[in-house]
Amino acid sequence: MRKFIAAANWKMNCTKEQAKTLVEDLLAISHTLDKRHLVVLGVPFPYLIMVKDLVGQNNEFFSVAAQNLHHKVSGAFTGEVSAPMLASIGVEYVIIGHSERREQFGEDGALLKQKVDIALEYGLKPIFCCGEPLEVREAGNEQEYVRRQLHESLFHLTAEQMKHVVIAYEPIWAIGTGKTATVQQAQDMHFHLRAMLIKQYDENVANTISILYGGSVKADNAESLFNCPSVDGGLVGGASLIAADFEKIIEGLKR
Ligand code: 13P
Repeated sequence: MRKFIAAANWKMNCTKEQAKTLVEDLLAISHTLDKRHLVVLGVPFPYLIMVKDLVGQNNEFFSVAAQNLHHKVSGAFTGEVSAPMLASIGVEYVIIGHSERREQFGEDGALLKQKVDIALEYGLKPIFCCGEPLEVREAGNEQEYVRRQLHESLFHLTAEQMKHVVIAYEPIWAIGTGKTATVQQAQDMHFHLRAMLIKQYDENVANTISILYGGSVKADNAESLFNCPSVDGGLVGGASLIAADFEKIIEGLKR
């Protein structure tokens, strides 16, 4: 069965000391989790090794994610980080296709497809982000928009590959705005996403894949969002930087 996941996306935040304290505080709560739950810490590149060490090699409740990777294996790409590098330090997940990367760094569906492929080739599990801008939502075209994002970058995968992917639905208008999707909006889109997976693959594949909601998930709304039958947890930005808040969000997984 698929996992219920609370994934943190720290984005470009925290000093090393802050990162260490935050992770240590979160690790103190691991005893309240059970096998269905997973916390994924998406931290900046410089802290990956430290956070992996803090979490430990065989931690069944906590995993570590990179926030990006390059689509080539190696070479003259100054400043970039590759899939084999991440795999070699024990990173398990990688966020791919976040709207901030699509918008600010010009990453399109074809490039993201290559990133998904190289991640899987090196045993990294993609947390693939999709989600529509406000004008698309207002025009009522959000389902078609997200369908295209999945077709562009994910649906070339085999069923076996697809089982290693986590999908995060992050409506752009809800990211960092304090404007969360309603429980009904989240449920409708997540239901649509799972229906797409059933159509493209089958029930078995669709039921294996965790579909997370992202966009202003907070301590006080996580539980109601995670209680939606089609929502398997969240990808959390701002609120994942405050240990007490993220702990409450993790608690929300226990439905
Ligand atoms: P916020 O939780 O800060 O809205 O960010 C969401 C996000 O972009 C997670 O990837």
